[in-house]
Amino acid sequence: MKILITGAGGLVGRALTEHCRTQGDEVFAYDHKSLDIADPQMVDAVVSERRPEAVINCAAWTDVDGCESDPGKARSVNALGPENLARAARHVDSLLITISTDYVFDGLKDGFYTQRDNPQPISVYGRAKLEGERLAQVENARTIVVRTGYIFGLGGTNFLSTVVARARESQKLKVIGDCFGTPTYGRDLAVRLRELAVIDLPGIYHVVNSGEGASFEMFTREALRMAKLPADMVESVSMDSLPRPAPRPRNSKMKCLLSPAIGLPPLRSWQQGLAHFVGETGR
Ligand SMILES: NC(=O)c1ccc[n+]([C@@H]2O[C@H](COP(=O)([O-])OP(=O)(O)OC[C@H]3O[C@@H](n4cnc5c(N)ncnc54)[C@H](OP(=O)(O)O)[C@@H]3O)[C@@H](O)[C@H]2O)c1
Repeated sequence: MKILITGAGGLVGRALTEHCRTQGDEVFAYDHKSLDIADPQMVDAVVSERRPEAVINCAAWTDVDGCESDPGKARSVNALGPENLARAARHVDSLLITISTDYVFDGLKDGFYTQRDNPQPISVYGRAKLEGERLAQVENARTIVVRTGYIFGLGGTNFLSTVVARARESQKLKVIGDCFGTPTYGRDLAVRLRELAVIDLPGIYHVVNSGEGASFEMFTREALRMAKLPADMVESVSMDSLPRPAPRPRNSKMKCLLSPAIGLPPLRSWQQGLAHFVGETGR
């Protein structure tokens, strides 16, 4: 397949670029410096020149607290960026896959969010990402929205990706124990993104590792256990005790109704993904 990837310098973008190359795809990988998705002319020029069969958007301004203090930038990257890509993809009759987030939900539900739940974002980041989903779908009927959350993997700078490295340096870890999501391994997400590109069936998909989900604390304790590191460096704290500029959903666990309906098997459990990741980081 001929695939154009944006945000190729980020956690998911890197994993996806690597995976598609191993599958023999012709990959045009653009990092932030080489393609700014907020620039509609640049996006159109690059997509028209490459004429990919699929554009997969892994670019986003992922600084959730930063977005809270700069809604204009949050909107231009996370809402208008997907719209720019959707338009450019339509001009060359290409599919767009754009990644969205569990933060489109308010977190008040007990249990798992599915596609039947109405998004109700509580942060600037979440609102911009939801607007990005919708603008892209309006601009290009051949749009696949992939909502995911609690991503961990190589090259990530988020807490879940760095917890083992921090613990190996004997750093004390303050970890939130009352905030729940469905951890998702970047490599597993990458494989599913490509599968969805091949299937080419527009819609909203929830792509997360399977299982009952976890709090940051549960994830951290499991990661330390797998890395054979002591758990006494973990201090459990409540979300409210760590005031941050952007509110986060207390529960953003997700399940997909669409994937099983089209015969896609669930991703492996997050613990299996984590075991692979801990092995990778220990090498
Ligand atoms: N990480 C999570 O837990 C999580 C959870 C739910 C959903 N997601 C979604 O998953 C997707 C991938 O995120 P990730 O975890 O791979 O995040 P990431 O590591 O922060 O990667 C995002 C990449 O996008 C780039 N970028 C930022 N602004 C851009 C722009 N205007 N044009 C082009 N590139 C730009 C960033 O480059 P610079 O750093 O150089 O600016 C970065 O390399 C995003 O859509 C994100 O919203 C992530």
